[in-house]
Amino acid sequence: MMTAQPGGRAASIPLMGHEVEPTMFELSVPGRSAAQLRTTAIPTRSLESMVPAEHLNPEPLVTADLAERDLVGHVTRLSHRQFSVDLGAYPLGSCTMKYNPKFCDSVAADPGLVSVHPGASAPMVQGWLELLVTLEERLCAITGMAAATLQPAAGAAGELTGLLLMRAYHDANGEQRRRVIIPDSAHGTNPASVTLGGYEVTTVPSNERGLVDLDALRAALGPDVAGIMLTNPNTVGLFEEQIVEIAEAVHDVGGLLYYDGANLNAILGVVRPGDMGFDIVHMNLHKTFATPHGGGGPGAGPVAVSARLARFLPGPRATRVDGRFEWVTPEASIGRMHGWHGNAMVLARALAYIEVHGAPGLERVAQHAVLNANWLRRRLADTLPAAYDRPCMHECVLTATSVKSAHGVRGLDIAKSLLDEGFHSPTVYFPLIVDEALMFEPTETESPQTLEVLAAAVESIVARAATDPESLHLAPTHTPVSRVDEARAARHLIATEDDAQR
Ligand SMILES: Cc1ncc(COP(=O)(O)O)c(C=O)c1O
Repeated sequence: MMTAQPGGRAASIPLMGHEVEPTMFELSVPGRSAAQLRTTAIPTRSLESMVPAEHLNPEPLVTADLAERDLVGHVTRLSHRQFSVDLGAYPLGSCTMKYNPKFCDSVAADPGLVSVHPGASAPMVQGWLELLVTLEERLCAITGMAAATLQPAAGAAGELTGLLLMRAYHDANGEQRRRVIIPDSAHGTNPASVTLGGYEVTTVPSNERGLVDLDALRAALGPDVAGIMLTNPNTVGLFEEQIVEIAEAVHDVGGLLYYDGANLNAILGVVRPGDMGFDIVHMNLHKTFATPHGGGGPGAGPVAVSARLARFLPGPRATRVDGRFEWVTPEASIGRMHGWHGNAMVLARALAYIEVHGAPGLERVAQHAVLNANWLRRRLADTLPAAYDRPCMHECVLTATSVKSAHGVRGLDIAKSLLDEGFHSPTVYFPLIVDEALMFEPTETESPQTLEVLAAAVESIVARAATDPESLHLAPTHTPVSRVDEARAARHLIATEDDAQR
């Protein structure tokens, strides 16, 4: 079995006498177990004494009996089959897979934070509440907003929250608006959230410079428009230069501006959505502020709003009251968006990241993210040209159109071949408006040396397209799993071992 090494070729992982990696159940030997220490002196009650018999499953529970040594060996071997941000560059555009400082993990693992029950009353958890209030204040300062909710569990959950806030605002003004405008370069979650929020999507095209076409936007506006969802920089990695005019046009018809803050990494400490004219902003803390993201781990998508929307925020919110901290629900709250108070440990990590960087440090994060993306764009200009030939922000969208027409090698082949070179692939075929798109987001955490090795790997792959295109169609060949049929995987989901055997 092979695994990718950062910036190099694959290395093998020992299979300990097996042909393929066994499952935990195949390794199980009845009666074996890891050591367990009782953490309290309270005697444990049996399941039978707590759960009525009719609710107990009569079938014996299938368990894997493993000694600690075998269990650790098994999960460590599996973890080495996986590429991760801790291994090397992960330039997956739009997703901001940047290195997360371990310091933030140690803060989130603090026993004083971990051992608290979320249902504890406010006087018992003043420290936690202060953490949440401070985070909210910092996020408002960063975005130029008045108040925030920390409840939403991820970016898309933040989007839905934002749209419900938009609806609550218009309802309170006695207005029934039905459309939300989205540019054609938008992330797929935007139209999905609009639909889930009960609105209709109106799409506006981008112009030849990759920016919102202002004339088309003006033509789409009307009294039934609830708002516009935008990210700036947009998903092509370009700054919407006419954002002030866009804001004025939307506000003139009574609409609100929603900022998809997934690209906040690019503007931290440099410019604020609030100053651009936005009314609602969601942030992906798991992208910008240090939580390992990907693989379905927990995220956090706080939503910050301008003063006129604060009274609709989800509750309860940790709030400063006479020098103490309380849970307070805003007067016209849209209700809860999460059980308890959100993904609390992601929030703790984010505050640690913000405090340790300080304002000047956050500004440097954005500057380096933008510098790295532009360096890569220029370095690869003769290999894969940028879709829009001008300075980008934190990510650059390149196109493999010419490689495809000359050699029949597609962007997907290049992305898969990068896995064999020990790098994670960039995002492919997004945004949809760019043909054979390869979206690289190197992030600020990669060094010039790593970027040079990455660029050289892309160059050598593209050079191989002319001499040995077949090898690129077959890539990756050095990873534990080679090319999968992604369309089939999405359509025929195999979620259990039984499904797999069918
Ligand atoms: C531009 C943009 N908006 C929204 C999202 C959704 O965020 P999440 O994956 O946390 O739901 C993403 C995620 O990649 C994104 O890139």
